[in-house]
Amino acid sequence: MKHIFWIIAGVVIVLSVVNFGFTFVQVREEKATLSNDLGYRTRLLADSLKESIEPAYSAGSAETLQRTVGRFTDNERLRGLVVVDPRGEIIAVSENLPASIRGNTLAANVMDADSSRGEFVRSSDGSFYVFAVPLHEEQRVVGALLLVQNADFINTYITRIWLDNLTRLAVQILFFSIVIAAIVRWVIVKPLSRLAESVRRTRAGSGTVGVVTEHSFFFQPLASEIAKLSKSLSQARSAASEEARMRLEKLDTPWTAERLKEFVKAHLRNRPIVLVSNREPYVHEKVGNETKWSVPASGMVTALEPVMEACGGLWVAHGSGNADREVADAQGKVQVPPEEPRYTLKRVWLTQKDVQGFYVGFSNEALWPLSHMAHTRPVFRKNDWMAYRRVNGKFAETILAEIKDLQNPIILVQDYHFALLPRMLKNARPDASVGFFWHIPWASAELFSICPWRKELLEGILGADLIGFHTQQHCNNFLETVGKEVEALIDLEQFSITRDEHTSYVRAFPISIAFTNGAPALGGTEEKATPPDKNAFKNLGIETEYIGLGVDRLDYTKGILERFKAIEFFLDANPQYRSKFTFLQISSPSREGSKKYRDYADECAAEAGRINKKFEDGNWRPIHFEKKHFSHEELHPLYAAADLCLVTSLHDGMNLVAKEFVAARSKEDGTLILSQFTGAARDLKGALIVNPYSAEEVAEAISKALAMSPAEVHRRMKVMRNAVRDSNVYRWSAEFLKTVANLA
Ligand code: UDP
Ligand code: G6P
Repeated sequence: MKHIFWIIAGVVIVLSVVNFGFTFVQVREEKATLSNDLGYRTRLLADSLKESIEPAYSAGSAETLQRTVGRFTDNERLRGLVVVDPRGEIIAVSENLPASIRGNTLAANVMDADSSRGEFVRSSDGSFYVFAVPLHEEQRVVGALLLVQNADFINTYITRIWLDNLTRLAVQILFFSIVIAAIVRWVIVKPLSRLAESVRRTRAGSGTVGVVTEHSFFFQPLASEIAKLSKSLSQARSAASEEARMRLEKLDTPWTAERLKEFVKAHLRNRPIVLVSNREPYVHEKVGNETKWSVPASGMVTALEPVMEACGGLWVAHGSGNADREVADAQGKVQVPPEEPRYTLKRVWLTQKDVQGFYVGFSNEALWPLSHMAHTRPVFRKNDWMAYRRVNGKFAETILAEIKDLQNPIILVQDYHFALLPRMLKNARPDASVGFFWHIPWASAELFSICPWRKELLEGILGADLIGFHTQQHCNNFLETVGKEVEALIDLEQFSITRDEHTSYVRAFPISIAFTNGAPALGGTEEKATPPDKNAFKNLGIETEYIGLGVDRLDYTKGILERFKAIEFFLDANPQYRSKFTFLQISSPSREGSKKYRDYADECAAEAGRINKKFEDGNWRPIHFEKKHFSHEELHPLYAAADLCLVTSLHDGMNLVAKEFVAARSKEDGTLILSQFTGAARDLKGALIVNPYSAEEVAEAISKALAMSPAEVHRRMKVMRNAVRDSNVYRWSAEFLKTVANLA
């Protein structure tokens, strides 16, 4: 639209300049012609009047003179006549002579020069052409006759020319604007967007594959070339798909996006997949005048986004970005990933009150601390609970409307924000397969029993056909909680719970990331490996020989304060590392609506400041605390080049940062120090496992990591990379989907 405006503006400027130029010349010529014509006619009139006036003048009859002069006063053009004597005194004058002409000196000049002359005079009475002719008596100049002609008609005529030409210009501008807008739209913009859309669809492998070449106008040659490229792409894709199908049953080869896609086709027979979570995978925000998108810091998003990219389908989530509405359609839908759409994100709009009660209140101030053993007391407020129920109901309505025409959909409900949703969905749509995944720990039956609404929460979760946790311990804790709180038949052999004739199966599915260790990623491109390069840290002002890295949401469960204490302990115990070791803590601000989180951020900054003050030396300070969100692209080179990564969560469902660090180490080096209270500690056997509450133990692990032989570092990292590659998120989703689809 903006481009069309600029093209039209250019044309308007050109048209205006040309029109003004022509009008200016025309006006000049017309003015000269009219003035000459008036001068000529006045001279003729003056000569004939002179002949009638001279005899009366010679006779000295002022009365005759006045009568002769008076005879011409009715004329529309001729505004007046004056006869003056040689001294310039008026002898006879017509009645309606404009007052401004009386003092005119032309008559005196004419008598001096003894030749007639005319001039244009502009005054408050109007525009006039004044012409004077000398009167003679026997060759002597005895006076002068002054004729005053009305010249207003020249200005009126010129004004009309300007007006006519301006009107013509306006009509031309209107006409050209309409024609240009139509041409640009139909001949350039439409064919180009059609071309871009069909290329995008071909690239994404969705919809009708193939590039639209008809109606491409002068883009026809380009369209034909792109069509050929697209055909080659489709052929390459079918070859890859065929290969993936052949590899499908060979479980020793890594799971890839392509393999997952084939698996979904073969085992789920393309049953539609609807995923629902509170956090959306892409957030659109206004930054100045621009609308930008980002991927939020969330292990749930990191894990499930690649799955949705591979499988396609609908992801329903809360639209939390301030520009989310602007980019979505009337139904809140937007195709994502924004640069290469592969599935639909449907945003659900919540009021500020809903967000406060449902998200900040019940989800993050009640369920989050209730589930994490981090010694933060949950806060149970009735109003938050009501908002939680209301928002779960709102999401249920939205999803039910979306699946009303779909047969046997698979609905994947994510996390503690939606404990009531599985029951609501299953009651309304018994034909749907409902899977529920709890991404955080399930602490214990004892701890859960303090929740005033524990029964409702459990009943809500038990609406699901499959309930997933990261670890077997979480499954055990959940079964124990159900046994304690609700009446149900628990089968410890099958790991199932039957209540009101509906059975829910409980299984551990340790989640992971989209790491394939070099196997082709989606679209057949190789996963890129970043060579370790410490320059990545230089940009952040870190240049020491040894570098440690921490990457977390700014959350009290992540043990950031404990980590800083361990670094203090390490530097106290190992002074030889002062000025040689720096710890970079990247902390993405999180849940800032909650005071607990704001206070925690301040405490972390203060603690880093205190420790830095204690050890700082010249330009060196031990802790760089970056309170800022980093994109995955920005994190990758840091993961790849750090000597060690510290993950010291006090309690964590899985912790994907640990797995991301391992995945980034293509040179099979670097050491992971990992809290024993993370789900990841069960999968990553090559890590140095620590108790995050013990500063001594963590400090010891840091010095062990820095002194470890390269062979040992390599051995440990290789074990971990193989584990992450073998149990990546494509495999996780294939196993979860297969289980849930086979249950119903
Ligand atoms: N993350 C990010 N930018 C940051 C900090 C973290 O993108 O500045 C990402 C990180 O890469 C990881 C996710 O946030 O993918 C955190 O997942 P994790 O399972 O470790 O913890 P969660 O935050 O989900 O509790
Ligand atoms: C945890 C939860 C996710 C959540 C993430 C980030 O990983 O399991 O569901 O998205 O934290 O928290 P936020 O409140 O920002 O979504």
